[in-house]
Amino acid sequence: MKKRIALVTGANRGLGFETCHQLAQLGVTVILSARNVIKGTIAAKELAGRGLDVLFYRLDVSNQNNIIWIVDQIEQQFGKLDVLVNNAAILYDTWQNAFNADLEVVNHALTTNLFGPWKLSQVCIPLMKRNKYGRIVNVSSGAGSLNYMAGGTPAYSVSKAALNAFSRILAAELNGTGILVNSVDPGWVSTDMGGHGGRPVEEGVQGIVWAATLPNNGPSGGFFFDGKPSPW
Ligand SMILES: NC(=O)c1ccc[n+]([C@@H]2O[C@H](COP(=O)([O-])OP(=O)(O)OC[C@H]3O[C@@H](n4cnc5c(N)ncnc54)[C@H](OP(=O)(O)O)[C@@H]3O)[C@@H](O)[C@H]2O)c1
Repeated sequence: MKKRIALVTGANRGLGFETCHQLAQLGVTVILSARNVIKGTIAAKELAGRGLDVLFYRLDVSNQNNIIWIVDQIEQQFGKLDVLVNNAAILYDTWQNAFNADLEVVNHALTTNLFGPWKLSQVCIPLMKRNKYGRIVNVSSGAGSLNYMAGGTPAYSVSKAALNAFSRILAAELNGTGILVNSVDPGWVSTDMGGHGGRPVEEGVQGIVWAATLPNNGPSGGFFFDGKPSPW
């Protein structure tokens, strides 16, 4: 079997970077993407320097033209894409509430956290369908779970709840195509976004890597924490 090709967004640091690391260690060719060329190049070089098959492509997920461009480049270079990890996200807006939220901020969160993964999935799916194989992992959050939802972080929480809904709808629509779509909550992880006190990134990405490497009879349309179903 030809080597699997994976695209990971927002991968210059945090969970995205470690996802690239662990997927590459499993023998996957990883496209480490980032919106900042310098940061992305340094991150990819660090992993390539450890003998891993990792390349850098620039991708700002809030830019739809950039999304179309990168998938076109991947098609030209590899002729296929097997795995998409929609990891990039912004705006854990602890400073606002739903009743006073700046809707420009909410819009900004939705553009990156929802429309980025949505558009990227749309553009990648035809490529995946060709080989009847695909794994789409939407990196979500417990903050997007209606089950646990309380007040606060409205932009972020609404964007992740919507991302979860997107995962379910897309999974149902792709049933039988060989493309599995799931949402994953990495838990509280020590990163720039998560701050101090969370679990290490090596643990946080376990569920992401699990969903990215599911067997053909694996689940689709679920919300998972460390490979176990999590309440929506
Ligand atoms: N850490 C946690 O406790 C936690 C908990 C639940 C869920 N999550 C989720 O896990 C994922 C990764 O989070 P993290 O903790 O690793 O966050 P992080 O350290 O803040 O990293 C976020 C990454 O996303 C990138 N990014 C932001 N906007 C982008 C854009 N428009 N285009 C491309 N890349 C963009 C950032 O790039 P720059 O360096 O250029 O800013 C950075 O590489 C996110 O989806 C987050 O919501 C995290």
